[in-house]
Amino acid sequence: MPGVVIVGAQWGDEGKGKITDLLAERATMIVRFQGGNNAGHTIVREGKEYKFHLIPSGILHSQKTCVIGNGVVVDPRVLLGEIDNLKRAGISVANLRISANAHLIMPYHVLLDQAGETKLGKLSIGTTRRGIGPCYADKALRLGIRVQDLLDEKILRTKIRAALEPKQQALRELGVQRRKQRKEAGEDAKAAPEGSTAGGPDPRLDLHAMVEDHINFGHRLEPHIADTAKLCWDALDDDETVIFEGAQATLLDLDHGTYPFVTSSNPIAGAATVGAGVGPTDITEVWGIAKAYATRVGAGPFPTELEDETGERMVERGHEFGTTTGRRRRCGWMDLVALRYAVRLNRMDSLAITKLDVLSGLGPLRVAVRYRSKEGAVLDSFPYHQSILHSATPEYEELPGFEEEIGDCREEADLPQAARDYLAYISDFVKVPIRLVGVGPDREQTIRIDA
Ligand code: IMP
Repeated sequence: MPGVVIVGAQWGDEGKGKITDLLAERATMIVRFQGGNNAGHTIVREGKEYKFHLIPSGILHSQKTCVIGNGVVVDPRVLLGEIDNLKRAGISVANLRISANAHLIMPYHVLLDQAGETKLGKLSIGTTRRGIGPCYADKALRLGIRVQDLLDEKILRTKIRAALEPKQQALRELGVQRRKQRKEAGEDAKAAPEGSTAGGPDPRLDLHAMVEDHINFGHRLEPHIADTAKLCWDALDDDETVIFEGAQATLLDLDHGTYPFVTSSNPIAGAATVGAGVGPTDITEVWGIAKAYATRVGAGPFPTELEDETGERMVERGHEFGTTTGRRRRCGWMDLVALRYAVRLNRMDSLAITKLDVLSGLGPLRVAVRYRSKEGAVLDSFPYHQSILHSATPEYEELPGFEEEIGDCREEADLPQAARDYLAYISDFVKVPIRLVGVGPDREQTIRIDA
């Protein structure tokens, strides 16, 4: 009953999709257990690029069951768009299963997320504006709409009405704000009648239209809706390998990340049990994925951030722009204090280091091995107090860099000695074996290292 969890070890975008795709070779089922279409996985296969936001990366393997677990928040429009794209590319989605208990991102969640970010201005978290936070908030408030509700019009209508009720004021304010913006932009403000919740006859917020749209979504999704926890149990009980694929990453975890600059779910390994419906002892292996350097999108503390030419070169060489929002990612040196924290939180037993090729030609390589607080205290572990982290400065170990392009290396022995030493340093520091190394975007550009 091998249950393998794959999690991001940093602030996301570590290349989990590619590693999941590789590890999926030995699995029969791939399950996503949290997050929504704030995630973005890019997989390059034989030079062709595939981008996913919701559908598990394993979908490219036609014989494997891909599951969207109960812990995921699903925007049905986005999901149907991905299904259509895959079908157009000739990829079967017959093995896609969606938990009946997963919550739906509704149009008002997206609007509220966008409005919240605008209102907070400079202090904003920098969310992906996909409605993730408001959807999880409704789930906790027991005002959420679930996938199974798409199959019953009466229940759907009642639940949407109940969910809209406490949001009227916020949605009205949003309407006023939008009317003002349209006026300033010289558009016809009269087109938006007073009292309209969205500042215009916004069909996205009309109850009847919303119910009708969602019933249609339900018709289309029905063949995929299932009791996905039971599917996982059956596979695990039959001794099949199930991969639980996390989105986002450890330092964006709602409880253990750099709150409030985090996402609204738990991307750590322990959450796979809740988000898929399996027990802790079903998990037999935990893989952490880390880039050979560090990146972060959106606001929040990032001790090793580089705002210089080296950081700029990381952006360029690593194409560090978000799959979901296209935003430029902040880049910096590998932070081993944060990585060691992530290793322990997830109890990782294997690491994959991705994008090692990006470091070639960057000169001597630095890795943060401790922080120093504003008051001068040495911090060997990740500080629990956010204010300390905000003002902590990293102290680095400098390691020799390498000039060679390494995209064609396929074995550890092919790598320049400096690259091998760099990997060995990371592995020794966090005490976890590195078993996969990415040297380019294609799935073939991977080095497997036997533990
Ligand atoms: P949300 O998940 O859209 O609410 O955004 C909350 C924070 O998580 C923001 O800083 C986002 O930039 C970040 N975030 C969410 N999803 C991802 C991801 O897939 N990769 C990297 N950062 C993400």
